[in-house]
Amino acid sequence: MAARRPLIAGNWKMNGLRADGTALAAALVQRLKKADTARFDMLICPPATLIAPVGQVLEGSILALGGQDCHAAEKGAHTGDISAAMLADLGCRYVIVGHSERRQDHGESDATVRAKAAAAHKAGLIAIVCVGETEGQRDAGEAESVVTGQLKGSIPDGATAENTVIAYEPVWAIGTGRTPTNADIAAMHANIRTSLSGLVASADGVRILYGGSVKPGNAAEILAIDDVDGALVGGASLKDEDFWGIAASCR
Ligand code: 13P
Repeated sequence: MAARRPLIAGNWKMNGLRADGTALAAALVQRLKKADTARFDMLICPPATLIAPVGQVLEGSILALGGQDCHAAEKGAHTGDISAAMLADLGCRYVIVGHSERRQDHGESDATVRAKAAAAHKAGLIAIVCVGETEGQRDAGEAESVVTGQLKGSIPDGATAENTVIAYEPVWAIGTGRTPTNADIAAMHANIRTSLSGLVASADGVRILYGGSVKPGNAAEILAIDDVDGALVGGASLKDEDFWGIAASCR
């Protein structure tokens, strides 16, 4: 199996004003300075308004910066939107695309997500492409086919293990305190790995993150599952001790 370095990513979503966002980033920078970080990469994705001030706090640190979304176009008349190049310009190395909250709240289709991921690649960013089934789809036995379909529709040509990360986030596990069983996570991640061959060059090297109610208390067992190469963390990424506790669970 290819050696994949775990990625512990924090998605702050629509949380944080300048004072608490920069304080959280500074606390993580301090922890990273003192720690043995050979075991994982760490990333934070603040809201767009905090990318610049948080980026200043991260200068000189290995803590990576990312956006939560980008537009598919390079520039133009798209009021309120942000391009991938704008994120890169502020020091972002990653951008999340196709989060289920974007798919639900903004009606983003697989084709939209695919175009956003392509735009991210063009700007030199690593796209974190999110997929995941709803509770109804899982209950209907469709979880794997839904996720496979999302992968096929959302991954652009030219995707590689270097420029693409997949995040499996079952919609019903996000912010609910519920998680799939370890066996279900293992089965889905194996399914994703299989689906990736043919979609991504060197699929074996692609990092597949699990997201949905990851906490310090369940991180060790989730991160130990085969084909789980890190976590995309929402709520627990807003407290430095919780986010750090998750990262420290990487073996
Ligand atoms: P929670 O960790 O709050 O469940 O959110 C997961 C998520 O949506 C990360 O992108």
